[in-house]
Amino acid sequence: MPKVVRIGGRIGAEIIGADLTDPDAFPTEEINRLLLEHKALIFRDAGLDEAGHRDFAARFGALTRAHPTVPSAEGLPEVLAVDADTGHRANVWHTDVTFVRTPPKISTLRAIKLPPYGGDTLIANAAAAYRDLPEPLRELADRLWAVHSNAYDYATPAKSAEYRRVFTSKVYQTAHPVVREHPETGERTLFIGGFAQRIVGLSGTESRDILRILQSYVTRPENIVRVRWNVGDLVVFDNRITQHYAPDDYDDRPRLLHRITVAGGPVTGLDGRQSYVVEGDDATDYTAPVKAA
Ligand code: SIN
Repeated sequence: MPKVVRIGGRIGAEIIGADLTDPDAFPTEEINRLLLEHKALIFRDAGLDEAGHRDFAARFGALTRAHPTVPSAEGLPEVLAVDADTGHRANVWHTDVTFVRTPPKISTLRAIKLPPYGGDTLIANAAAAYRDLPEPLRELADRLWAVHSNAYDYATPAKSAEYRRVFTSKVYQTAHPVVREHPETGERTLFIGGFAQRIVGLSGTESRDILRILQSYVTRPENIVRVRWNVGDLVVFDNRITQHYAPDDYDDRPRLLHRITVAGGPVTGLDGRQSYVVEGDDATDYTAPVKAA
């Protein structure tokens, strides 16, 4: 069996010596169990090619297309090329694609080209953040809903302007609960991040202040693992309970990751209500219908 080494106090484990091409050698249920426990898994030197990456991700469920608005990598419908040269620099804390009603449940990233310095990925445990909240803030968060949008308020450097134009070519707005229970473990977690734009029923100014306070618990250093990549590594994180951020600290050096995501369901709030579309649609071209989570 591969070696599993816990690397963060609250999130993250490295898996060394795993054969990800053979479900008998490393069963999917065991990998899923490790993912639920550690929330982010770093498979060192996973040795997967394009087909291997796709087949591995598909073990966890139906795959989404690359992205609701950004075109897929050439000839690879499920692959989003996270390519710094085309302006894809994910240096905002976020959970992937929360602006649609059914955001992916799992994200997988494979390192193809890396800069000689910088270019790490930070991943945060948003359930630990929820547990860190003082009781009155937790009680407030439990009742809130937030509208998430891909047309988010974010200063774009000139080199990323075209990428942003494509990213927002169709605008989505979706309301999700600010707190959800993880569909497999029942763990409560904050479900916000960079696409969360406003709190339902509050003004923009009030929303920003509340989201800033809640978000400050997610990005506490205690809740974060920092992934220093090597070419060939595969990182898998549970998109239902984490946020991530890629520091833009590698100047104009090349950086290319391939991302494949596993379809998720609508989010259920503590009040039993489900995510709903505010603008746009269900993005069914992007993600297969998956039952409520
Ligand atoms: C992403 O947010 O999809 C990519 C993260 C990264 O570039 O490390």
